[in-house]
Amino acid sequence: MSKPKRYLITAALPYTNGPVHIGHLAGVYIPADIFSRYQKAVGNDAVYICGSDEHGVPITIRAKKEGKSPQEIVDKYHHLIKKSFEEFGIDFDHYSRTSSPLHHKTASDFFKKLYDKGEFIEKETEQLYDEKARQFLADRFVKGTCPKCGYDEAYGDQCEKCGTSLSPTELINPVSTLTGTKPVLRKTKHWYLPLDKHQEWLKKWILEEHKHDWKPNVLGQVKSWLDEGLRPRAVTRDLDWGVPVPVKGAEGKVLYVWFDAPIGYISTTKEWAEKAGKDWKKYWFDRQTHLIHFIGKDNIVFHTIIFPAMLKAHGDFILPENVPANEFLNLEGDKISTSRNWAVWLHEYLQEFPGKQDVLRYVLTANAPETKDNDFTWKDFQARNNNELVGNLGNFINRVAVLTNKYYNGIIPQPGKFNENDLQTLDKMRRYPEVIGNLIERFRFREALTELMNLSRLGNKYLADEQPWKIVKTDPERVQTVMFVANQMATALGILTEVFLPFTSRKIKQIFNIVPSLGWKDVATKQNLILPGQQINKPRLLFEKITDETVQQQIDKLKKSKQQNEQNQTKSIKPDIDFDDFQKLDLRIATIIDAEKVPKTKKLLKLQLDTGIDRRTVISGIAQYFSPQDIIGKQVVLVANLKPKKIKGIESRGMILMTENEKGELIFIRPEIQVLKGSKVI
Ligand code: 2FM
Ligand code: ZN
Repeated sequence: MSKPKRYLITAALPYTNGPVHIGHLAGVYIPADIFSRYQKAVGNDAVYICGSDEHGVPITIRAKKEGKSPQEIVDKYHHLIKKSFEEFGIDFDHYSRTSSPLHHKTASDFFKKLYDKGEFIEKETEQLYDEKARQFLADRFVKGTCPKCGYDEAYGDQCEKCGTSLSPTELINPVSTLTGTKPVLRKTKHWYLPLDKHQEWLKKWILEEHKHDWKPNVLGQVKSWLDEGLRPRAVTRDLDWGVPVPVKGAEGKVLYVWFDAPIGYISTTKEWAEKAGKDWKKYWFDRQTHLIHFIGKDNIVFHTIIFPAMLKAHGDFILPENVPANEFLNLEGDKISTSRNWAVWLHEYLQEFPGKQDVLRYVLTANAPETKDNDFTWKDFQARNNNELVGNLGNFINRVAVLTNKYYNGIIPQPGKFNENDLQTLDKMRRYPEVIGNLIERFRFREALTELMNLSRLGNKYLADEQPWKIVKTDPERVQTVMFVANQMATALGILTEVFLPFTSRKIKQIFNIVPSLGWKDVATKQNLILPGQQINKPRLLFEKITDETVQQQIDKLKKSKQQNEQNQTKSIKPDIDFDDFQKLDLRIATIIDAEKVPKTKKLLKLQLDTGIDRRTVISGIAQYFSPQDIIGKQVVLVANLKPKKIKGIESRGMILMTENEKGELIFIRPEIQVLKGSKVI
């Protein structure tokens, strides 16, 4: 038997600025979970770690928005995220957080070591500064146009459209996200990691040594970075939330979140080791350890270039063996977005689909964005559940359990002589652990899951070919053999499903009384997985059909969130104006004394207004909501000093203030009681 291998499996530390959604699960946490469960199932020493990424600008922005402190925000989301992962069976050996004292110390010591070794350059540069907020604008505190692709909502650290990593000063027309003002340049000192010094070895290590085993999407991104030439990168920020920079002259500065977050993998390992009575150093210093980082595509540069450069600069540490990054999962054809509430949130899914964690795990694995962006749709979710889980896996397990109970009171029968079909079927079954395992080892989880379902399909085909229900009266001996074989396959499925669908596996194991000592390798090597005379339990349904109505509710919920989002956008407050600006407006109460439709238009009414000072014409786009005769005599609020404008050849002098009712129809803003004509609005 080969010696167990040692794996350290990391999943990107999620930012604690919101709950987790299906994109997180599909891109990172499920694939890493399958990988970790598999490595453990085949007897390797695998540790799966993660934790909350609690620093960085997005968290402080969220805190400002919610009127809370950053600590309150991270506390709230840390617990919510941790709970969601647990509920979905994401089986971390340890889940930590970067606000922990141990992490602060680990990150701080790491920085200090690089500082003492002279691995940084110290530079004074001009950075964007918000004079109104009296603050430097790091990363997401600034938005502007991407110099690469022209997207005008790019952030100071990254353009989400083209994925380019940016620095705030590269943005065209930068605007502060704090105050909406135009920032100025101001001098400040920071420490930079000279990535250019690391360019050569990184190139050799990734593009030569790993050119065959890293995913093409990862190699592609790395290559484009290296082709452009690496440049020194600032690893400190002028912020008040994060790990303080542990050197003199750095007061008020913290480590860049992308400097401290990956060190979170190290501090989490330390915490885990302490708890488990293990030596953390083996997992980070011993070259025999396989370090695998599971991430999404927006994290590639940090895990393949920046963090490895930090590890190398520090010395002693191993480097990742692989960084199997996934692309993105979209939702109903649109990019998942926390701020636009365009997402399926895990905690909400669980409330709406209690007990159906494995359905989501299944759909997200079957449709994982492994090589390209993919789309999650509720219709596909329903189809996969109804056709694949209910129709294939659930159906097979149920048939075996029902027939075994019906024919033999749940006692596994003694088989007779195996025929060719029995032997071939059992032989095929025994090959699945290797086939599935090889795919998992190569990070091809979708195909691995397809193979698992093929095993179930093989079981269904076997029963359909043998038709035990047809011959049970005429050839009971043959049926004993058929049911014996079918029970072997059901047991195999109980074991192999564990890495993909842990809740389902538990149920199958309960039905067939599968003992915990029976494992992955036994499916390939053991003569019999379940023995004649063994008692199984009554069947219970593994999956149930999902109705059209249920998925329609989800689609409607998304539609509603889209509408709400559109409304919210119009709700955002415009930049501040001075009181003087306000005073320039002449708002007064006027009475509509006449109204008629503007010919050849649908929307326009020509109104005659009495302002108390003059009589004037105003053209107003309200014809769809009011007929002329209904509004004559009404008092309205008029912007009386708007520059005259010709509309359809008629000079309009002013504008009437309106708002919308809940149906989106225009209504007048009017004084509560009749007031004197020409009264000023003050
Ligand atoms: O993209 C993100 O959500 C980051 N919080 C991932 C950090 S991964 C690691 F380096 F900590
Ligand atoms: Zn861009």
